[in-house]
This record gives sequence, structure tokens and C-alpha cells, in this order.
Amino acid sequence: MTTFSKGLEGIVAAETAISYIDGTNGILEYVGIPIGELASKSTFEETVYLLWNQRLPNKGELAAFTSDLRARYSLPAGMLERIAGVPTDAEPMHVLRTMVSALSMYDPNPNENTVEAARDKSLNILAWTPSIVAAFDRGRRGLEPVTPDTSLGFSANFLYMLNDKKPTEAMVRAFDICMITHADHGLNNSTFTARVIISTLSDMYSAITGAIGSLRGPLHGGANEGVMKMLNEIDSVSDAEAYVMGKLERKERIMGFGHRVYKAKDPRATELMTLAKQLADDTGNADLYEKSHAIELIMEREVAAKGIYPNVDFYSATTYHCIGLKLDLFTPMFALSRIAGWSGHVIEQLADNRLFRPTVNYVGPHDAPYIPIDKR
Ligand code: ACO
Repeated sequence: MTTFSKGLEGIVAAETAISYIDGTNGILEYVGIPIGELASKSTFEETVYLLWNQRLPNKGELAAFTSDLRARYSLPAGMLERIAGVPTDAEPMHVLRTMVSALSMYDPNPNENTVEAARDKSLNILAWTPSIVAAFDRGRRGLEPVTPDTSLGFSANFLYMLNDKKPTEAMVRAFDICMITHADHGLNNSTFTARVIISTLSDMYSAITGAIGSLRGPLHGGANEGVMKMLNEIDSVSDAEAYVMGKLERKERIMGFGHRVYKAKDPRATELMTLAKQLADDTGNADLYEKSHAIELIMEREVAAKGIYPNVDFYSATTYHCIGLKLDLFTPMFALSRIAGWSGHVIEQLADNRLFRPTVNYVGPHDAPYIPIDKR
């Protein structure tokens, strides 16, 4: 009972039937289905159903789930005004975190924690968050929000609300693959955060708000923005070698590489690499892909022996850029997708809850004298 593991490395802290990771062999499965299968054959809506029900839906179930989600696209009355009141130079992740927290005030029963209520709230949050991000981004550009289009799927509707223009099928599919590949990933930091919060029987909004706060860190989901900044700092493919070697010599981290669990290439990076190459070619961004690939090869030569390979964030940066997203929207995109996983884990935690309350090794003094303030 006194085992101490810094960063909880190697500690089993929960049981889940949602996703499985084999970090040695680079395997990720959602409910047993390899991520590559889902990325090539599924849709985001179907994947969410899978994560929340631990089985694939039949045609009728998927149609019902999709139409229920679409019927919830519009934000509660008052939320658009709230978003319009946000400073236009605020960071989108701070806005998203704050607005998800604010959603609780528009829910007549925010604290309801039955599994059924949690599923209902999850569907609302999943449906509303794209509207929050799109409305904020348009507002800061001096543009009016676009009313969601319930004839469109999750990905198409988000891109439509962002640009006031129907996206091409290729862009919708690319975005959907990003949403599928980011939807869940074991007991990562933000998912753990969500489970820890709900384990006090707090509420779904608090759990998702906390998880968004965790995700934005540069060691977690914030790394995709770090990757793009790095690619922008490298002028051309031929500069990649000096750039990466300089960073490694200074013991700096290369964003988008390394993982607490994977000691092989993250299978999501493999999926996104193919997607990034295709999109980069199609959108005149081939140089971005070439720079990324050059970095991957240098890293393979230099640090693969330490088990450091590209993670999900590495090629998602090029992918999001090619989809036309601004740099500071990359991490919010991760959040839009991961809401599926966070919610699934909150529901799983509620169904068999035990309060998270680890212990700590006290390393301070004992029996210390209380020195009166005028004697200190
Ligand atoms: N670049 C260079 N070296 C690295 C990197 C990297 N990205 N990641 C780890 N290392 C090195 C460390 O310097 C350390 O070397 P040392 O043993 O010689 O000191 C060794 O690999 C082990 O590193 P740790 O920090 O102990 O590994 P940990 O499991 O704590 O780190 C983490 C995992 C935080 C993801 C780390 O790899 C990192 O900082 N990566 C960059 C940020 C990133 O891409 N985060 C996204 C992760 S995926 C996600 O959350 C969605």
C-alpha cells in the first residue's frame, strides 16, 4: 500500500472496457476494434456510439443516435451572447473550458448523476461544443455565428459553422478521421482528471471542464500546437536536421514525439501520417508534410532506441493546417473529439464508482515549533 510511483507511471488506477492500448506493439483498440479499422471504415458518430455502448450500432440505432445528436446542435438560449462577450484575444481553449463550465447553468438539473442523465448530458455537450468553438472564432473575426445545419453530420456541421460554407466531402472525411482517432485513449491525463472529478459525485460539466483544462497542457493535447509552431520555425526541409539536432543537444523536447505508454509508433500517428500526406498534396502544403517526415526520420535515427516515436499530435498538426484551421484551434479540435472518451469514462466511473483518494509520502518536518510572528 505504500508504493510510490512518480507521475503514477505503471499504476493501474481503473478498469475500462472502452479502449485498449498495447504500448510495446503500438496497438490501440476501441472496444476491441483496431483504430485503423475505425479510421478507414467508421464515422465519428458511429465511433461515439461504440464508445458509449461498447458495441457497434445497427442501422436503426445509428440513425436514431445521429438524429438525436443533430437535434441538439443549437446552443441553449443565452450562450451565444455569453460567447460574444468574451475578449476576442482570449485563447480558444480557455474559452472552451469556461463555456463548457457555463453550460451547467443552463441545465435545470446539472447535478443529476444517474447513468441515464450522464448520457443525456454527454450528448448535449458533444453537440454544443462545436458551436461554441465556431461562434467564438467567428466572433473574433468580426463575423456573426452560423446557425447549425441539422442535415449535416458532426464534422461537416462544424466546418460549415466555422466557414459559413459547405465543406468538400474530402475535408469532411479528413476531419472525421481526426475525430475518430482522437476520441479515446485509456487513462490519459485528461481522462483520469474527468474520472477523478466525477468520483466525488460532482457533475458531468465539472468533469469535462477539468478534463479540458488538463488537455491544454503542452505535454498532453497542447502538443499539436507546439508541433505546428516548430514546423513554422523550420524554413525548409533542408533546415530540419540542424533544427532537430540543436534541440536535442540542448535537451529540449521535440513536440509530437514520445509517450508515457507507447514505446513504438503510436498507431494514430500512422493513420494521420497517411491522411496528412494526402491532404498536404491536395492543398499545396507538400512542404509541410516533407518537413514533418524529415523530422520523423531524424528522430528515428537519434532517439528511437529510447522508445521515442511520433505520437498522435505529430501529424495531426499538418492535417489540421491543411483542413484550414488556425493554429490555436488545433487543441480545441482534440477536445471536441475527446469529449466522447471523457464522457464514456465518466459514465463507466459512475456505474461502479469508488472515490479516488490516493495517499502521499510526507517528506516535511515533524514536531516543528510554532514561532510567534514577531520572532520569525
Ligand atoms: N523529445 C526529446 N526527448 C524526449 C521526448 C521528446 N519529445 N520525450 C521524451 N524524451 C526523452 C526525455 O528527455 C528522457 O530522456 P532521458 O532519459 O535521457 O532524460 C526520456 O525520453 C524519457 O522521458 P520522460 O519525460 O521520462 O517520459 P514521460 O513518459 O514522462 O513523457 C511525454 C511522456 C510527456 C509525452 C514526453 O514524451 C514529452 O514531453 N513529449 C513531448 C510533448 C508531447 O508530444 N506530448 C503529447 C503526448 S500524446 C498526448 O498526450 C495526446
